[in-house]
Amino acid sequence: MANSPMRVAAIGDLHVQEDSVAPYRELFTEIANHADVLLLCGDLTNFGKETEAQILAEDIKSCTIPVLGVLGNHDYECGCPEKVCSILHDAGMIVLDEQAHEIDGVGFAGVKGFLGGFGRGELAPFGEPIVKAFVDETMKEARKLENQLRSLRTERSVTVLHYSPVIGTLEGEPAEIFQYLGAQRLAEPIDRFDHVKAVVHGHAHHGSYEGRTPLGKPVYNVAQFVVKPLFGRPYALIEV
Ligand SMILES: [Fe+2]
Ligand SMILES: [Fe+2]
Repeated sequence: MANSPMRVAAIGDLHVQEDSVAPYRELFTEIANHADVLLLCGDLTNFGKETEAQILAEDIKSCTIPVLGVLGNHDYECGCPEKVCSILHDAGMIVLDEQAHEIDGVGFAGVKGFLGGFGRGELAPFGEPIVKAFVDETMKEARKLENQLRSLRTERSVTVLHYSPVIGTLEGEPAEIFQYLGAQRLAEPIDRFDHVKAVVHGHAHHGSYEGRTPLGKPVYNVAQFVVKPLFGRPYALIEV
């Protein structure tokens, strides 16, 4: 139904290893009983190995609700993120990166995101080419997100990231590494579009569950290591 609330489950940092046996099969079944859509917020595999992706792919195939999500930095470690992506795509997961997706009147936009820092700690594109390239990578991710958000015609949408767009959900991590956990530049497109009702991300395993964008939109760190101690289950449930 286009106007009724959608129940969205979200979990980040699955870190599937190649010796795991159906690691998320039961959990995905449980989630399907409580939610309409499942969002996976990156670090789906531990090292970005094809074998790890194939193990998760089997669990995704068994999930009876739509699965959407983004990759994380760990999914790049072996240098074959395209392969990881295609294995998960073939299993039925909608991997968000270039194109937004719509389900029952709710839009979903997502990118992995990148590092870059916040406030005074934000890295500026100045000096050496490698510094400019680094900042450019963050801007490229923000731009891809903006293009997806602009393409949506829905009244409600959820943004899916791996890196954090705000500092609020990083509280609990050492302040010295905040700039490696996310980038303020990712929050700019989010705050530009009224239809964004919630943001979910992972990556900050020791961060906090809830934060806000500068304009007050709710941001949830759904890294399973953050969510489990709070709710006794490793996934978040939100309504949009
Ligand atoms: Fe992680
Ligand atoms: Fe990560």
